[in-house]
Amino acid sequence: MNELFNLRVSHALVTGASSGLGQHFARFLAGAGAKVTLAARREAALTRTVEEIRAEAGQAQSVVMDVTDAGSIGRAFDRAEEGFGPVTVLVNNAGVTAAGVALQLDEASWDQVIDTNLKGVWLAAQAAAQRMVRHGTGGSIVNIASILGLRVAGGVAPYAVSKAGVVQMTKTLALEWARHNIRVNALAPGYIETELNSDFFASDAGQALVKRIPQRRLGKAGELDGALLLLASSAGSYTTGCVIAVDGGHLVSSL
Ligand SMILES: NC(=O)c1ccc[n+]([C@@H]2O[C@H](COP(=O)([O-])OP(=O)(O)OC[C@H]3O[C@@H](n4cnc5c(N)ncnc54)[C@H](OP(=O)(O)O)[C@@H]3O)[C@@H](O)[C@H]2O)c1
Repeated sequence: MNELFNLRVSHALVTGASSGLGQHFARFLAGAGAKVTLAARREAALTRTVEEIRAEAGQAQSVVMDVTDAGSIGRAFDRAEEGFGPVTVLVNNAGVTAAGVALQLDEASWDQVIDTNLKGVWLAAQAAAQRMVRHGTGGSIVNIASILGLRVAGGVAPYAVSKAGVVQMTKTLALEWARHNIRVNALAPGYIETELNSDFFASDAGQALVKRIPQRRLGKAGELDGALLLLASSAGSYTTGCVIAVDGGHLVSSL
């Protein structure tokens, strides 16, 4: 692989790596040569993926982390560093959604989405950056936002608000932390097919949604890899405060 995209000196920590996109990102970054720490609450799922990565000669370990809890994040970073040294890449991917119309959505749903997607991204970014400054390594933080942080859809208000917050957080942290050689960017996926949403996208409502995407299809997890690699590696060394949408043109769909 071109030296610009080389991750062999990187230690990447991926939150929400027990399923879906986070699990995919962990496998991809390990395949690109990084030492990878997989973090989430479900330990058994993390362990399985770590074993799969090691079976393919990748370097991986797992830590239990609840991103809504600063103490849990701190302990997880400490354990990650004991295994693989300072974390130089953070993929802030853990996220949840709550479906429901705004007139009826309950307070607990709002709290869960905001605590995970917004406060969790903040706490993990802060923990990573404090360590990058302390170790003098600098690094790259990639926040997984969503096109719903840039435009809106009905029935997902807290999610859209949280992702819009992630977009603005990305820019403010990029501004504050550039002096420490820490880059902060966001990757905003469009609709990506995962095990969790495949039933919905097979339904009539899901198919109707797909028709509004200019490319007329869902994305595949692997189609996010190029943008992630750019942001994580030294190929993106002058890229900070950016939001890269990977969405089949969904954001530019006709009004
Ligand atoms: N799939 C898409 O089309 C799409 C599009 C745009 C953006 N995204 C974003 O991409 C990210 C991943 O989504 P996905 O589709 O892969 O969803 P997913 O399969 O449901 O994965 C979500 C991950 O987040 C973790 N998580 C949830 N709450 C957590 C907490 N409190 N602490 C630590 N980890 C937590 C889960 O692990 P545990 O339950 O084990 O903790 C799980 O690994 C999310 O931020 C999502 O908003 C997805």
